[in-house]
Amino acid sequence: MSAEFVKVAQLHEIPIDRGKVVQVEGKEIALFRSEGTVYAIDNHCLHEGGPLGHGLVKEGVVTCPWHLWRFNVRTGEMVEAPSMKVDCFAVKVEGEDVCLDISSLTARIRRNRTILRRLVAGETAEDLAKEHRLIPEEIERIAKQARIGERLIWLGELFQRQGAIYSQDLLRIPYRDLEGISYGAQEKLDELIELL
Ligand code: FES
Repeated sequence: MSAEFVKVAQLHEIPIDRGKVVQVEGKEIALFRSEGTVYAIDNHCLHEGGPLGHGLVKEGVVTCPWHLWRFNVRTGEMVEAPSMKVDCFAVKVEGEDVCLDISSLTARIRRNRTILRRLVAGETAEDLAKEHRLIPEEIERIAKQARIGERLIWLGELFQRQGAIYSQDLLRIPYRDLEGISYGAQEKLDELIELL
C-alpha cells in the first residue's frame, strides 16, 4: 500500500500540551506535539470512546479526559496494557504544513464500499466474512457504516446541485432497502438532512 499524504493542519494549530482533533475521511484523528515531533493517533479511546485529542499530554503520553486511561502518542499503545492500541498514522511536516498518511483509511473505505456492493448484489455476510477473516456481524456493521457514508455523499452531491434537499429526495436515496440491515427511523435521515 503506497503512502498517501494529505495536509490536515498547520503546525502552530497543535498546542504543546494538548492535542488537536482533525476529521479525515470521516475519521477523527488526534494530533499531538511531543519533544518537537508531531504524532497522530485515533481520537477515540479504547475504553468508551473518550476524545483523546482533548486529553493532557506529558512526555509522549496522553491521558484520556474521561476515565484517565493513558496512551503512548508515538505507538498508540495503552501504557498499562501495550497489547491494546489505537490506530497510528505516519506524519510528515513540511514547513508549517502537517500531513498525514491516510492510505490505511482510504483502503478501508474502498474495502467497505466493496463489501456493501457485494452484499447488495446478493452475496452473504458469511461468505464475505470468511474472505475477509472477519465475523459476519462485523461485515454487517461495516456494510451499515458504508451505507450511511454513501447516503451522506449522495445527499451532499445533491445539495450542491440543487442548493436544497426536499423530502421527496428521500425516496431516491441509495440503499433504501438493503435487507437485514435496519437503518432506524426516518427521523434519523431528517436529522442528517438538517445537518446538511
Ligand atoms: S473513555 Fe477513555 S478512559 Fe474511559
